[in-house]
Amino acid sequence: ELQEKESLIITNDFARTFYADQLFHTEEGKSIGLSYFRSRGFRRETLAAFDLGYASADSDTLLRAARAAGHKDEQLEKLGLVRNGRDFFRDRVMFTIHNLAGKPIAFAGRILKKDAKAPKYINSPESEIYHKSDVLYGMFQARQAVRKADRIYMVEGYTDVISLHQNGVKNVVATSGTSLTDGQASLVKRFTDNVTLLYDGDKAGVKAALRGVDVLLTSDLNVRVVLLPDGHDPDSYLQAVGTTAFSEYLEAASKDFLYFKADLLLEEAGDDVARRTTAIRDIGATLALVEDPLKRAGYLQQFSGRLGIEESLLVNLVNTAIADRR
Ligand code: UTP
Ligand code: MN
Ligand code: MN
Ligand code: MN
Ligand code: MN
Repeated sequence: ELQEKESLIITNDFARTFYADQLFHTEEGKSIGLSYFRSRGFRRETLAAFDLGYASADSDTLLRAARAAGHKDEQLEKLGLVRNGRDFFRDRVMFTIHNLAGKPIAFAGRILKKDAKAPKYINSPESEIYHKSDVLYGMFQARQAVRKADRIYMVEGYTDVISLHQNGVKNVVATSGTSLTDGQASLVKRFTDNVTLLYDGDKAGVKAALRGVDVLLTSDLNVRVVLLPDGHDPDSYLQAVGTTAFSEYLEAASKDFLYFKADLLLEEAGDDVARRTTAIRDIGATLALVEDPLKRAGYLQQFSGRLGIEESLLVNLVNTAIADRR
């Protein structure tokens, strides 16, 4: 079992080195992959720190090299590196997904040309060494900075992590576009109690911010939210305004999640009493997820003022929501 995992990691490590070698030392890799990463502003040391690479447009470059190095087809297929006798990742720039020890457990490949049919990113399948729901992209590179800052930024994309890291915001990981899981929340909890969600300022970003937060609150993490101006993701916004303005924005636009949610719902409800009531119940249900009674009491006090309702009424609402969950 342990040996099996180790041998899977050895094969992935071969692939990691192979993709990097293709990127830096082949004509195809240099002219296509390296120039792509340069166009994104990624520096040489960044490419190395994140184990970025290049997968050739040929159908079996990796397969042939891996076989020659003694890696078994069965193993390559288990890891999703080879499928139906062909390389799974072709004609893409490669991102390595590491475990906390820095070992390669999976890969993602980004398409280079615009193609409506093909997905922008393809990812390794689940395997004995890759349980997607327990992984946050970039945690290996971020972990020391997370401890030091006692805060973690969560973004959606691989390139957001890399771009922010390269520009000094090193305490950043990506959810890779999916909902947060318990496993990811407990991973974060090992390094800090303070999470800032950093999402696009569009509808999808707001939805992503609202979704999955339950998981973080029930893990007793303190959650803040920063929404970026519409049309931007963290990488594009940082490129647009520069490092200093970006950091200032993170400070200025950061809101406690509970206030973020309350403001959003109340704004949507407007003066409509029925909709306001629904909104307040929804806020109460979220408050009920705050396990720490002292923290909850603090929120209750502030929210009764903000919502303009008696604190005792709000306390009842929250207690009912807690009882309903049991
Ligand atoms: P985005 O579409 O925002 O991509 O998806 P991005 O990270 O900004 O990438 P660039 O800047 O265009 O290169 C956010 C994340 O969702 C996951 C990836 O983890 C991606 O980084 N995703 C997206 C997929 O897994 N597959 C897809 O086809 C698209
Ligand atoms: Mn703690
Ligand atoms: Mn978006
Ligand atoms: Mn992007
Ligand atoms: Mn994006």
